[in-house]
Amino acid sequence: MPARNISIPNQPSNVTNQTITSVSREHRKFRPSAEFQRQANLGSYAAYKRLYAESVNTPNKFWGRQAKELLTWQKPFKKVLDWKLPHAKWFLGGQLNVAANCLDRHLGTARENKAAIIFEGEPGDVRTITYKQLHREVCQFANALTALGLAKGDRAAIYLPMVPEAAVAMLACARLGVIHTVIFGGFSSEAIKDRVNDCQAKLVITADGGWRRGKIIDLKTNVDRALAGTPTVEHVVVLKRTGQPVAFSEGRDRWWHDLVAGVSAEHKAKGHDSEHPLFILYTSGSTGKPKGVLHTSAGYLLGTTITTKYVFDLKETDIYFCTADIGWITGHSYVVYGPLANGATVLMYEGAPNHPEPDRFWDIIDRHGVTIFYTAPTAIRAFMRWGDDYVKKHSLKSLRLLGSVGEPINPEAWMWYHTLIGKKRCPIVDTWWQTETGAIMVTPLPGVTATTPGSCTLPFFGVVPKILDEQGKEVPRGGGGKLFLKNPWPSMLRTLWGDDERYKKQYWSELPGYYFAGDGARFDEDGYLWVVGRIDDVLNVSGHRIGTAEVESALVSHPSVAEAAVVGRPDELKGQALVVFVTLKNGFAASPQHKEELRAHVAKEIGSLARPDDVRFAAALPKTRSGKIMRRILKEIAAGGTVKGDTTTLEDFNVVAALQSQEE
Ligand code: WTA
Repeated sequence: MPARNISIPNQPSNVTNQTITSVSREHRKFRPSAEFQRQANLGSYAAYKRLYAESVNTPNKFWGRQAKELLTWQKPFKKVLDWKLPHAKWFLGGQLNVAANCLDRHLGTARENKAAIIFEGEPGDVRTITYKQLHREVCQFANALTALGLAKGDRAAIYLPMVPEAAVAMLACARLGVIHTVIFGGFSSEAIKDRVNDCQAKLVITADGGWRRGKIIDLKTNVDRALAGTPTVEHVVVLKRTGQPVAFSEGRDRWWHDLVAGVSAEHKAKGHDSEHPLFILYTSGSTGKPKGVLHTSAGYLLGTTITTKYVFDLKETDIYFCTADIGWITGHSYVVYGPLANGATVLMYEGAPNHPEPDRFWDIIDRHGVTIFYTAPTAIRAFMRWGDDYVKKHSLKSLRLLGSVGEPINPEAWMWYHTLIGKKRCPIVDTWWQTETGAIMVTPLPGVTATTPGSCTLPFFGVVPKILDEQGKEVPRGGGGKLFLKNPWPSMLRTLWGDDERYKKQYWSELPGYYFAGDGARFDEDGYLWVVGRIDDVLNVSGHRIGTAEVESALVSHPSVAEAAVVGRPDELKGQALVVFVTLKNGFAASPQHKEELRAHVAKEIGSLARPDDVRFAAALPKTRSGKIMRRILKEIAAGGTVKGDTTTLEDFNVVAALQSQEE
């Protein structure tokens, strides 16, 4: 990877200067209340320090003990870690079943008849599913998948709305050792096709549709379009959710309810090797097609289980609501695997936060008595914009803990969350992690850490974050650099599906021996970590990673586009907005209609989350003499500023002048 000049601002870019100064002057700290501390799973800084020291000084001892205490094994492991950089194998010789850890082990205990999932559909339908019932459904679906010909090691794609069957499908796959790949319901047919083909899925599990903002998302139609180009798919299982008519392909398609009708709900969970692949989740990279991040069984389960226990301070009586879709890593780790392994009650909501009114979440929290609420800064900024009145109509008195994930949270949003939602009573855990890390890596512990708005604070057990400069030297506290992680951890990705070279290059070659997170960050004077965002060409739009390369290749797939460059522009609501610069082929004219056509084209190719906010036509794009597009310059133009900094490597300054004059 080429060395890049990086300059890291002191705070997230969407923080105003005034807030920066006041934060750094005040060092505002919010300590957990004595009351919270008393009841916390970990209630003192001394205890955290002791465990943390053990986890980094004698990691094998620490993780070996946690794995024995927190997981149920069918065959005990012999060796905690086999680390041949950059490949880790955890808990070798051991066998367990991830689904049995999430379900079977709660049977015969007081949890058996406890709600595993409280589901609320967007139209208002509510279902409560106990652990016993969820176990039954998973066993039955696992038997049905076996009858369809699915076997251990096969891949199955899941393209479902946020309904309990999404968890059932994931757990049934996990039970059988079938590797699932969940595709976010907002992705397009093209995206489904690419992912299905990349992992050669044999099965697609989908629904007729799902509800979103009062409308139906036609999931089955998208699958049908995708499957015109996916030779490996043998069957499609279709859940009836919305009931609208859908096309059915004879022989290939089966209704979920028909498939399970009369099928036994008895299923013995076999143990799978610790390193058996659990799932592939595609995420954006800085170049080329999405990366198939591979997670395996025992290490991933341990990482999600232990973080759920300590970061969310989970108790038997909690009702835990994470707003992430199942299609993202947060939905995998903190809607399904982590909470269920801990025997939690998970609240799952299908639809939009502002349907029918912008107070849907607060209404849900009050009606169901939600105690823990985990969401993203982009959502918090939307709530702020919709107005405090929607919040004030509700008591929110059941809440005791709040969480944030997906992007840096600006202190202003943090304070709003703290005051309006947490009523100054609930600790906030700002959790930094990635699809690749599998589980939360840097975070406050709610009964331990004094929080500072905007900082994700301190490393979780076993995590050794480093801020390093271009030479690999540690940057002193207060200075910005690239964020690396030093040691392997149980829930780390194992490779990229089918592309181990890319795995090595992407994560382990920036600085040999260190995992490169792709983020810029700094430690403050107190040793708290501040992540400021991506430093590669990955954008973070509404808390979702979007690779510039993906959007660019979608654009050039349009017959009129000769060349395209995509950059992010700071956006108050979404974190970053997508601005695309496009040069057209001869014979095509720039027009407002054409802009709309290109925006729609990207939405069709990738999904509406990647729809560009702004399309700018250019006669040429600024390039270096070696022909690389200078995104830094485009970024400055997109943000409406003047082009500063070094332009000596530019091939032709006139190009920049032309782009800027277009601005005025
Ligand atoms: C960003 C989501 C600051 C970061 C779990 C990271 C954050 C990327 C935070 C991963 C946070 C996530 N503070 N930045 N608390 N959480 N990020 O793979 O840039 O969708 O590298 O995983 O989101 O996004 P991903």
